[in-house]
Amino acid sequence: MNNTTYIGKPADRPDGRKKVQGRATYAGEFAQENMVYGYVVQSEIAEGEIINMDIARAEQVPGVLRVFTHENIPESVKINSDYSDPLAPPGQPFRPLYNEKILYNGQPIALVVAEDFETARFAAGFVKTEYRAEECSVDIRENQEKATHEDVDDSPENRGDADKAFAAADYTVEAEYYQPRHYHNPMEPHATIAIWDKENESFKIYDKIQGVRGSQAYIRGVFSMEKEKVQVLSPYVGGGFGSGLRPQYQLFMAALAAKVLERPAKVTLTRRQMFSFGHRPANLQKVKLGADKNGKLLSIEHNSVGETSKFEKYSESVVGFTGVIYACENVKTDYRLVPVSVYTPNDARAPGGATGMFAVESAVDELAHKIGIDPLELRLKNYAERDNNEDKPFSSKELRACYAQAAKAIGWKENYNPQPRSRREGNHLVGYGMATGIWEAMQQKASARAVLHADGTLKVYSGTADNGAGTYAIMTQIAAETVGVSMDKTEFILGDTSLPKAPIQGGSWTAASVGSAVKTVSKVLRHKIYDLAHKTYPDRMTGTITEEAVFADGGFTTDNDTTIKFTDLLRDAGESQIEVTTNTEPGKERENYSCYAHSCVMVKVLVDADLGMIAVPKIVTAVAGGKILNPKTARSQIIGGNVWGISAALEEEGMIDPRNGRIMNANLAEYHVAVHADIQEQEVIFVEEEDDIVNPLGAKGLGEIGIVGVAAAIANAVFNATGKRVRELPITLDKVL
Ligand code: MOS
Repeated sequence: MNNTTYIGKPADRPDGRKKVQGRATYAGEFAQENMVYGYVVQSEIAEGEIINMDIARAEQVPGVLRVFTHENIPESVKINSDYSDPLAPPGQPFRPLYNEKILYNGQPIALVVAEDFETARFAAGFVKTEYRAEECSVDIRENQEKATHEDVDDSPENRGDADKAFAAADYTVEAEYYQPRHYHNPMEPHATIAIWDKENESFKIYDKIQGVRGSQAYIRGVFSMEKEKVQVLSPYVGGGFGSGLRPQYQLFMAALAAKVLERPAKVTLTRRQMFSFGHRPANLQKVKLGADKNGKLLSIEHNSVGETSKFEKYSESVVGFTGVIYACENVKTDYRLVPVSVYTPNDARAPGGATGMFAVESAVDELAHKIGIDPLELRLKNYAERDNNEDKPFSSKELRACYAQAAKAIGWKENYNPQPRSRREGNHLVGYGMATGIWEAMQQKASARAVLHADGTLKVYSGTADNGAGTYAIMTQIAAETVGVSMDKTEFILGDTSLPKAPIQGGSWTAASVGSAVKTVSKVLRHKIYDLAHKTYPDRMTGTITEEAVFADGGFTTDNDTTIKFTDLLRDAGESQIEVTTNTEPGKERENYSCYAHSCVMVKVLVDADLGMIAVPKIVTAVAGGKILNPKTARSQIIGGNVWGISAALEEEGMIDPRNGRIMNANLAEYHVAVHADIQEQEVIFVEEEDDIVNPLGAKGLGEIGIVGVAAAIANAVFNATGKRVRELPITLDKVL
C-alpha cells in the first residue's frame, strides 16, 4: 500500500503540535545568557524636531546600562549614513535615532537598555524630550489637493473612451467610498534578539520577519557588512499579514545595543508600539459605472487616492484589478497619493485588492439595484473571458463555478430578494449580499536543497518563512510525496539566511514559488537516487528513470518491478546521504497568460431593527485557486482572510488625533477587531480548477484572496437588509440607524 501520497490531502501541520504546546520558539524567545533588554521611547509629536533630550535621570535608574538617542551613538559602531531596507518605497527611508527630525507621532527616539525589560520600561518614563512642533496633517480627505502621481507604482489603465460611454449610458452609478487605516495586529509582536560576535565581527540575529533576507540586507546596509557576517533566523512567525515584510526599527535597535554593549540584546515592541509602523493606508475612491438597459457595462471609471507618509511614497494596487474583473471596453483608472504626517503604510493582506474591490464591488451592487437586475446576473452578464488590461487569456478562470457554487451554498435564488427591508427574522432585518474577489497568482525565483539520509529520512531546506500559512505542511507534503518518503520521516527547514535563497513570504506566492522549488529539487533528487541505484545494482537496474517512475513507501520500483528501499541503497552504496540543490524560476509560458485566483463571497447579515447592530451569521467563499495542495491549511487561509474582511467591514478603524498625529486607539481594547462572537458560520468551497501554465504544481496561492470582496459583500448585504448604502468603513451602527 502506498502511504506516501500527500498532495491535495488535508495533512496536519508538522509545526502545529509544537505551537500549541509552546515548543515553537519565536524570535523573542531565543533567550541568551547575559542578555540585555531594550525599551523603545517614542515621539509625542507628529512633525518638527527634538530640541532637547534629558536622559540623565533614566540612566541613573539601577540596572540601566545605556540610553541611546540620535545624539550619542558612538562613532566606533560605524553606522552608514545612507542605509535603506530592500523594500523601501521611493523617498527617504526612515532611519531610527538618525537625527533630530520628527516625521511621525510614535517615532522611536530613544532606546533604554537595562538588565531586564521592566527596568528598561520603568526608566523610559524618565526620558524627557522637548520638541519644536510643526503643524501636522493626517486626513487625506482634507488634503486631496496634494494628491500626486509622483513615484506612484500602479500604472493607470485607459482604454476606449470612458467619459463618452458614461454619458451615453442608460444607467449610471457615481459614488465615493472611504476606508480608514487598518493595523495588522499579528498575535506575535515584533521582536529581535541580536548577538554580536566581536571576535568575528559578525551578527547572529533572531528576528520576527516574513523573509530573513530582508533583515540581513538591512543590517548589512546599516553596518556595511558582508553577507557571510550576518545570519538571520526566523523559524516561526506568529502572524504577519504584511507587517513583517519590511524590517522594522526594533531590528536596528537590538543590533545597535548588541554591538555597542557587546552583549546579546533583545528589543520587543509592546502591543501599543505595534501601531507605530506600517499600516494599511486610508483610502478614498470614486467609482463611476455606466451600463446599457440590459445591464451590459459600458464604462468603468475608478479613481483612488491613498495615504502615504511625507518621507516615502508607498503604492498599492487599488485600481489595478478594476480593468480585469469585468468585460468592458471603456475603462479609466487613476491612483494618486496624499502625503500626511503618518509613518509609511505597509502591505496588508491583499494590499490594494481588498481596498479597491470594496469600492468596485459595492458600486456594481448599486448598479444592479438601479437597473433592477440580480447582482449575480449582472456579474455573469459582464464576465471577462480575457484579461482586457493586458489583452491576454487567463491561464485558468473558474469564477463562473465560484458564483454557482457559492449561490447554491447560501441559497441565493431562494433567499435574495432585491427589495431592501423585505425580510425579517424576529426583530432583525435580513440581508444578503455578494462580491467578486480577485488576486494575482504570482511566482518568484526560489531555491531548495534536499538531502536523503542513510536512515531513510528526508530533509528539505529553503530560506522561506511560515507566518502561519501552512508552509511547513505543504512543503513537507510535496517533498514527501515526490521522493516517496513518509511525512513523519520528512522535515522541511526554513527561516535562515544560510539556507538556499527564497523570496519573502508575501503576495500569496510562497506555495507557487517555494512549492515549485521543493517539487523540482525532489525530482532531481529522484534522478540522483536512480543513478546511485544504477551504479550500486548494475544487474538489477534496467532502463532510465521516467516521469512515471514510482517513488513511494521509502523506496522506488523500477520498470521491471524491482523494488529498492532507500535505506538498503544507501547502505549498499556506502553513502551517508544523497544531496541536491536546485534553483527554480517562473516558466516562460506564463508570460503569454494572465494568472489570477478568483472568488465569490456571499453573506447573510442580520441587522437589529432598533439598534442597528450587525451580525454576519453566514459567509460563503467559493475560491478558484488552482490546485489545492492541502484543503485543511487552505481552508484556514480563506477563513482567516474572511475574519479580517468581516472585521474590516464592521469594526476596524485606526483613529488619529488631528492635533498631534497621535494614534488614539493603539490597543486592542479600542481598536476593535472581530472576536469569536463576531464570527459565525463560515463555509469555504474550493472549485475544481486545472492550470498547468501557472506553475508545475498548478497552485495559485490563497493567503490574500480570502479577504478580497468580503467588505463589499457585507456592505451590499447591509443595504439589502436596511436600504441604507454605507460607503465608508467600518459599517458601525450609527451609520445604519
Ligand atoms: Mo502579504 S500583505 O504580501 O504579507
